[in-house]
Formats: sequence, structure tokens, C-alpha cells
Amino acid sequence: MPTTNNILYLDKVKRLKFMSHGEQLNLFNQSEWTSSTQNPSQIKLIPTHGKIPIAPGTYDSMASLAGHCHSCVRCGLSATRTKAVVGRGNLNAPIMIIGEGPGQNEDETGLPFVGKAGHLLDKILAAVKLDCDRDIYICNIVKCRPPENRVPTGDEIAACRPYLLEQIRLVDPKIILLTGGTAVKGLLEDNRGITKIRGTWMEWQGRLCMPILHPAYLLRNPSREPGSPKWLMWQDIQAVRAKFDEIF
Ligand code: URA
Repeated sequence: MPTTNNILYLDKVKRLKFMSHGEQLNLFNQSEWTSSTQNPSQIKLIPTHGKIPIAPGTYDSMASLAGHCHSCVRCGLSATRTKAVVGRGNLNAPIMIIGEGPGQNEDETGLPFVGKAGHLLDKILAAVKLDCDRDIYICNIVKCRPPENRVPTGDEIAACRPYLLEQIRLVDPKIILLTGGTAVKGLLEDNRGITKIRGTWMEWQGRLCMPILHPAYLLRNPSREPGSPKWLMWQDIQAVRAKFDEIF
């Protein structure tokens, strides 16, 4: 159960290990801890248990959010990550793309969608003249790689969700694209199959959301025949481009 013993107070975000009540805090820099405790006005809060909420409005910038993600131990994925993967693209983008979670390339580089699936996603966006650095911000439901690229658990998704909600608040996109079923479940808490709901516009907290197929799924299904995953993606991304032109 989360308790106040699961909350660490730091003035600067540093990677640290949290141990349960009665055990020790292991900090990289003990002197910073000492100065923090002496200067409570500069103290920041890191809730280290996934069930402790992070209040909306906690972060005033993506950099401060990223700092917490890099130190985060809210779920077990922190134990096996190389780098937390926060996001890439325009921090004020009109379109946000949310994937499932980092794979190996992302874990190594700290950037989302930089492997084969990412390259395909970039090509799909470029085909409708959407620029990844100007029009798009890309992130994931969970910020740390699940071992063997397994699907993140409900608890892992819930532990990471406050970061995602804060990213959405900070970027403030008008359009959100959810790549694959985990992204739909993670944001909309909707368990319907992706093939049933892809390509449909949904409203979520005043924003337009569209579930789309995951690019990794397209890589496994190379056919371009009408009705194939690639063909469906082409229909969907054109609908996104049309909506973008309508709004902006
Ligand atoms: N797949 C995802 O869902 N996210 C990534 O960052 C990479 C691959």
C-alpha cells in the first residue's frame, strides 16, 4: 500500500533507489539530500509508488517532467530500463502521437519510435506532408521498455499515466493519434479491439482522438491490397491530414 513513506523529497532530480519504511534511502549525492532537508521551500515531490497520484499541474515544463521520468521508480519497469523514453518532436505540436512503449532502440537512445516501426511511422507522416519536428509530438503510454517488448500491464500503465496526462496538458494538442490497442486502452480506458475502432474520431477531454493501427503491425502485414492494414492506415492518415487542414 502507498504511504507517505513512499514519497521522496528532493531539490534536484537524481536517480535514486527507494527502500521501504525503516530501510535507507540510497542517494547518489548525499549532500544534496542534506541541503534539501535544510531548505524545505525548494523541495520537490516524487511519489515513488505507482498508486500515489501525481496531481495535474505538477510540472511547469517537459524538462521537469522528464527529470522525474528519468528518476522514476513507480513501477518495476524502472529496474530493467536503460533510459526512460519521454518524447520527441514539437513541444507545442498540434498533433500528438501516442504509442505503446519503448522497444530496444528506444530504450538505448531515450527517444520514441526510432526503430523500424518508427521509420515507417515517419514515412507515413511524410506521405501526407506532416513534419515530425513541426506538426507532431510523439510519446508512449509507458516511458520504460517492458522486458522482451511484452505488453505493459495495467499497473504499469496506471503508474505511468500521470506523466502522459501531464504531457498532454503541456503540449496541448488538438488531435491525438493512438497507435494500437494498448494506446487506446491506456488513454481512453477503452478495451475495444483496435481493428474495430481504428479510423474513427472520438472526443476525449475536448480533444479529437483517432485510434490507428500500430506501425509494427503494418511491418508484419506488408500487403497493400484494399482492406489490408497498410491500405487502412493510408485511409486513416489521409483523414487525419484532412482534419488538420480543416482545423488549422
Ligand atoms: N513502438 C511503440 O509503441 N513505441 C515506440 O516508441 C517504439 C515502438
